[in-house]
Amino acid sequence: MLKTVHIAALASLLVLTACGADPAPEPVEQIIVREPGAAPVATAADDPDSALLAEGKAAFANCSACHTLEQGAANGAGPNLFGIVGKAAGSVTGFGYSDALKASGITWTAAELDSYIADPAAKIPGTTMVAGAIADQGKRQAVIAYIESVSAN
Ligand code: HEC
Repeated sequence: MLKTVHIAALASLLVLTACGADPAPEPVEQIIVREPGAAPVATAADDPDSALLAEGKAAFANCSACHTLEQGAANGAGPNLFGIVGKAAGSVTGFGYSDALKASGITWTAAELDSYIADPAAKIPGTTMVAGAIADQGKRQAVIAYIESVSAN
């Protein structure tokens, strides 16, 4: 019984983390059933990586109105972000970028993404990304980790 609940929760967490198809933030819930003397059950909160990715998936709600994340998905108001870490800015095929972003010369590292998401217009004056900034640094780190994890699949 204990094992079943844990494995089901873990499996759904992995599916949520891996596919990223649903733009709505999904609450990650686990029902923990402890039996006397049973070994402690690992939860998302105990595992820093999965907790970070769950937070990042939720924070991607700030982006998903304009950006898809799955490989090969269509561009929206913003470009598809699959595999964005390591790419040159302005290089997603078929997206009409601002001249400012195309001329930025940026290669997207986690640090470059962090400062762009914190304040796009300060980072690249003239960018047409006019919403979606995240002020909270922890949330930015989580969303970047999530974007990287989806791209790595
Ligand atoms: C209101 C729509 C909108 C939202 C919300 C939004 N973006 Fe954007 N984003 C854009 C647009 C438009 C561009 C293209 C900007 C340009 O060409 O100057 C862009 C560009 C980008 C780029 C550069 C991509 C490239 O190919 O160089 C990254 C990275 C990015 N957004 C990440 C994010 C993240 C992460 C979030 C959420 C935290 C987010 N955006 C939220 C509209 C949005």
